[in-house]
Amino acid sequence: MRLDKFFSSQSLASRKEVKTLVRQGRITVNGEPAKISDIQIDPECDIILLDGKNVSYKKHIYIMLNKPQGVVSATEDRQHTTVLDLVPPPLYRSGLFPAGRLDKDTEGFVLLTDDGDFAHRILSPKKHVPKTYQAVIDQPVNQTDIALFQEGITLADGTVCMSAQLNVLDPGPQPLVEIVLQEGKYHQIKRMFESRGKKVLSLKRTKIGGLDLDPNLAPGECREILHKERFKILESPK
Ligand code: URA
Repeated sequence: MRLDKFFSSQSLASRKEVKTLVRQGRITVNGEPAKISDIQIDPECDIILLDGKNVSYKKHIYIMLNKPQGVVSATEDRQHTTVLDLVPPPLYRSGLFPAGRLDKDTEGFVLLTDDGDFAHRILSPKKHVPKTYQAVIDQPVNQTDIALFQEGITLADGTVCMSAQLNVLDPGPQPLVEIVLQEGKYHQIKRMFESRGKKVLSLKRTKIGGLDLDPNLAPGECREILHKERFKILESPK
């Protein structure tokens, strides 16, 4: 990889800024000051220092975003704010995309990454990485709803869903429920309740695999996912 590309890929400096840093003698490669900004380096083996400090290399980035309502899970949109618009410059990288979409009016955990293989692992229904949601429903949920979700509910268009868990967290005329899905069909939870004659009033994704949405993230905020947390994503929720 080129030295300037390395710095820009890690959101450390633009190619132009790397030129200046090189001219100022502030970057060394294996102990030698870099002479030009486009020399080839091996980010996994070479020791790159900026102002004498090690520049750590991350091949990929994994970000947890608490998506607010009104934001679209796309990389580009002419009219609406996208999930990528909410990523602050120090975390931003080209190639970032949302690993799984939430509807515009759904809030909660969206994982953004530039690692296509990891995204595939958490999205493919065959890999069984469950996604947990909380929803407020317009009317009480009964044992038949729970049993049918468990069995695999059939949507209005005949699509049969995989088995899903439905738990009532707070009963009442408009109960708060938890739903655990193993797949992600278009408007899935809304359509599952619709097929039972019920309406989802609000929806939030709270967990991906075994990793909870960080309660310290306000809607619109994001943070990097730690290395150890990445393994939790691939675990089943407790
Ligand atoms: N199910 C829905 O209906 N919408 C979402 O955003 C996610 C799951």
